[in-house]
Amino acid sequence: MFHIIGTGMYVPERIVTNDELATMVDTNDEWIRQRVGIAERRISTGEWTSEMAYKAALQALENANCKPEDLDYILTASVSAECVSPSTACMVQKLLGATCPALEVNAACSAFLFLLETAAGLFARGKAKKILVVGAERLSGILDWSDRSTCIIFGDGAGAAVLSNDKDGYLDSVVTVHGGDDVIKIPHFTGCSPFFTKENDSPYIHMQGQETFKYAVNAICSDINTLLERNSLALDDIRYIVPHQANKRIIDFAAKRLKTSEDKFYLNIEHYGNTSSASIPIALDELNRAGKLQSGDYIILTAFGGGLANAACLIRW
Ligand code: UT7
Repeated sequence: MFHIIGTGMYVPERIVTNDELATMVDTNDEWIRQRVGIAERRISTGEWTSEMAYKAALQALENANCKPEDLDYILTASVSAECVSPSTACMVQKLLGATCPALEVNAACSAFLFLLETAAGLFARGKAKKILVVGAERLSGILDWSDRSTCIIFGDGAGAAVLSNDKDGYLDSVVTVHGGDDVIKIPHFTGCSPFFTKENDSPYIHMQGQETFKYAVNAICSDINTLLERNSLALDDIRYIVPHQANKRIIDFAAKRLKTSEDKFYLNIEHYGNTSSASIPIALDELNRAGKLQSGDYIILTAFGGGLANAACLIRW
């Protein structure tokens, strides 16, 4: 099917610490570190989502030793793009000077894994040799900065990967959706139609934290167990689990339930917070550039979030 031949990431320069947030809402560094595991996050002060996506894409292309004209598709994911249309994918295509088709997938925090699944389908048609996938978010633009239960969690950034069909490293995947908007939702601008009579909630992230937390722990454990069982593997065979970075305590709970060490999970939430669709490719890029992944290593990517959607995949590096 495909394997990952290059990774990239980009985060804005501006660091916002917990102490700085404590000057804006009723919170404190100790609570955020203990309950979520975040020390700081990056916040865009002047870059749109597509510009961050482009910078991460450039890094991934360079890492893959690949040119924009080599790409057969560009797939992006975002819940916080500057435009509904053109999509972030179309803007990345323009900024890169690529000419291939480009499209966007919306699956919130699980979207990077839905991009891989979509790419697998395109590769299976036999027409694509190289596909660029990017998760990019300017979540700071869709946060209610007076709501301490959400504004302390999220951050901005982008992560990318180049996929190639010359080897099969995408071994198995699970994708699940429990559709509904009662646990997490980001309402859209309702418009100004004089004919429309319904009201919507404010166009910011609304989240039932504890419901999401329980859902996340269950989803991670069940998806990982499914992949291990289906592929006759044990957790000891897995070099790293790369989870969506939403709350360090979610990972602590999942590790305990899976009876494995927390070190098996790669975590960087301390520095970036939750960057939704960008969190897994950013983590993957850090692992890759640090030389922590060797050819032949098994890794599992696992994600959960709005939709509600969850997904996981087994990759051979
Ligand atoms: O990427 C999408 C997926 N999202 C997630 O996976 C998020 C999952 N959920 C979570 O990470 C956690 O539920 C939160 C971080 C959102 C909240 O943490 P929690 O441990 O579930 O806190 P809680 O809502 O149970 O609140 C505990 C207490 C409350 O005070 P009382 O009622 O016990 O007096 C809150 O008012 O903590 C209070 N609190 C805060 N205190 C200081 C809530 N937010 C804050 C805050 N600073 N920022």
